[in-house]
Amino acid sequence: MKLNVAAVRACYPALADGYAYLDGAAGTQVPRAVIDAISNAQAEGLGNSGGAFPASKRADVITAGCRAAIAALTGGHADGVVLGPNMTTLTYRFAGTLAKDWKPGDEVVVSRLDHDANVRPWVQAAEQAGATVRWAEVDPATGELPAGQYQDLITERTRLVAVSAASNIIGTRPDVPAITRLAKAAGALSYVDGVHATPHGPIDVRELGADFYATSAYKWSGPHIGAVVADPDLLRGLRPDKLKPSSDEVPERFELGTLPFASLAGVSAAVAHLASLTDLPDAALPDTGADADPATLRGRVLASMAAVHQHEQELFEVLLAGLDSMAHVRTYGRAASRTATAYFNVDGLTPVEVAERLASRKINVWDGDNYAWELTGVLGIRETGSAVRAGLVHYNDAADVDRLLTAVAELAG
Ligand SMILES: Cc1ncc(COP(=O)(O)O)c(C=O)c1O
Repeated sequence: MKLNVAAVRACYPALADGYAYLDGAAGTQVPRAVIDAISNAQAEGLGNSGGAFPASKRADVITAGCRAAIAALTGGHADGVVLGPNMTTLTYRFAGTLAKDWKPGDEVVVSRLDHDANVRPWVQAAEQAGATVRWAEVDPATGELPAGQYQDLITERTRLVAVSAASNIIGTRPDVPAITRLAKAAGALSYVDGVHATPHGPIDVRELGADFYATSAYKWSGPHIGAVVADPDLLRGLRPDKLKPSSDEVPERFELGTLPFASLAGVSAAVAHLASLTDLPDAALPDTGADADPATLRGRVLASMAAVHQHEQELFEVLLAGLDSMAHVRTYGRAASRTATAYFNVDGLTPVEVAERLASRKINVWDGDNYAWELTGVLGIRETGSAVRAGLVHYNDAADVDRLLTAVAELAG
């Protein structure tokens, strides 16, 4: 039931540099297959989209392949995959589009668990439309975002509910299906930030009930591309600002300018890589039920991501127990369901000092609020540099965790 993590690591040239890459929550390394896909796409000759000649047709094939790959990863529909430079840009795009018909008296619900990219675009769009913003609160002791509060927050005036599928600093996975059910029942749309959740386990946008699901490929072994996955029929009903001659089809209608075709080839290769993790030598498939049909890319993604989840959670148990056993360390977040993302402070040192000391020992961790602006405020640590984040992804191993724990133990004053 385990990934062969040594075989996984061997796919990533960057991991040979002797560093422990515990910075995956801010962006992962890419496997050789992704690097090759990007460079091969360039080498074969690429034209702009929609032309009569083969290099242009190759760009169109790459784009269609990228949409299909993201659909396989998320359980969405390929025609509903909107591509863009990153999640933040796409979220501003959707906020601007959806807010066109918001008016005073309308309400949007955002949460203090979320990365600011799923907060500020909605708050600013609401302000411009004269709509009211309502806040879902986090319990600072546990780091939970209780779903029950949405029964009061969502009313017949709610137009949109924005919520994260997982916190990028403390890993909390809220009960998104319960929240989106309430939104749907009230006639509101839901926009689910899946940027942190996607790399850590199987994702099914229908199970989540997300009208819009945002993800970023650079968090799951791909290049710097963002995507929003939605029902194509929902997209057809929306009118984003666009250039006159650009395509009015869905999903192209939402995409501004020329797509980075070579990178899109890299996104498809990243999904193929994730789907192949359990094919590597000595890996075993966990039982993921009927949907995990090995004959389809979706099925292989589901099986592989279930193994990723299991691998990360096993390592995380060791990481968290180790940090919690140290009297000079304070960890944040105690959610019942969370990704393998540790957030902590060390007595007597600022977060940046901790990150610098760990960097000098070839351990990559992040310090600061990581744009979880509201949440670091709730935790009462924003004004003091927030905390240190060590996140696990599929290519981290027991040696990475051991190195971090040994180095943090030696920071005791
Ligand atoms: C949970 C979460 N949401 C949104 C973002 C923003 O993503 P992007 O860099 O693609 O705009 C990040 C980036 O770290 C994130 O972790």
